[in-house]
Amino acid sequence: MADPMNMPPDDELRWYGTPTPGEPTRSQIGLVHPGQMGAAVGASAVAGGARVMWVSDGRSAASVARAEAAGLEDVGWMNALVNRSELMLSVCPPGAAEEVAEEITNLGFNRIYVDANAIAPATVRRIAERVEETGAHLVDGGIIGAPPQQPGDARLYLSGEFAPAAARMLAGGPLEVIVIDGPVGAASALKQAYGAWTKGTSALLASVEALALAEGVHGVLVAEWARSQPALAARSAHLNEAAQKAWRWIAEMEEGAATFAGAGLPPGFSEAAAEVYTRLQRFKDDPDAPSGAALAHYLLPGE
Ligand SMILES: NC(=O)c1ccc[n+]([C@@H]2O[C@H](COP(=O)([O-])OP(=O)(O)OC[C@H]3O[C@@H](n4cnc5c(N)ncnc54)[C@H](OP(=O)(O)O)[C@@H]3O)[C@@H](O)[C@H]2O)c1
Repeated sequence: MADPMNMPPDDELRWYGTPTPGEPTRSQIGLVHPGQMGAAVGASAVAGGARVMWVSDGRSAASVARAEAAGLEDVGWMNALVNRSELMLSVCPPGAAEEVAEEITNLGFNRIYVDANAIAPATVRRIAERVEETGAHLVDGGIIGAPPQQPGDARLYLSGEFAPAAARMLAGGPLEVIVIDGPVGAASALKQAYGAWTKGTSALLASVEALALAEGVHGVLVAEWARSQPALAARSAHLNEAAQKAWRWIAEMEEGAATFAGAGLPPGFSEAAAEVYTRLQRFKDDPDAPSGAALAHYLLPGE
């Protein structure tokens, strides 16, 4: 089969992700970087038959451990990752998505670049303009669900002209890869609409509890919930999970505000959620992060 590293640019659309009849293919995927979600997405691509590479330089021991467990290959340097990958997959904190794209682009990456981060449509379109300067093709992505261990855990939605080619390379493992009919920006819009509800309502719930604490009516509120809103107490008991990820959700909520504003809608819900998660960022990855009233205290001034 043709050498992926020497394909002329005008053959890219036909070549990417298209197996040559009778010959085995193994997609060459670069992953930046193997976080909780990224490592699981990488492991899913490995299960689907791909070779998934990454770069340990500059990353934490936790990323190293996740990458090893996921069966990813450490190629040592970012230059090697750029040269060997036919598809580069960015799964990083949303606030770092542009910086990561810049780093990869500066090294001359010119194949398929999938940005699967929780960013605004306008942000991913800006990233597309930048990565396409070197001849790369941007595929927009949005991940919904938990790090995929088995089918049904998570979906990766893709949009843009090269989404079908990217889907062929990333599919085959427990992660469900879904191409949606839309341009770059569509997959990010879907992710933002979804996250504005799930993460926005967690922030609202914590705020409501803090308000009740501040006014001395928290106990009465919880008693009323037990009578008329029983789901809320149960959800409040899980707010520790939101607190652990609050540091990463600040940027995601800011991107959400930009998404609402870009559609001519009030951005205030997501702006408030970003402020709530800013006040909770001290619980980054803390397994002992509190829930309920104990967490809500930290939203109050002076805490
Ligand atoms: N986790 C989920 O359940 C979930 C669900 C849906 C979507 N997502 C999306 O997946 C993306 C990543 O989530 P995750 O759970 O994998 O995050 P994570 O566990 O925090 O991992 C982030 C990865 O990016 C690296 N990183 C941290 N700061 C960076 C920076 N400034 N520049 C470049 N790389 C950096 C980390 O490396 P080191 O820590 O080693 O430095 C780590 O390997 C986000 O866009 C998120 O919205 C996650």
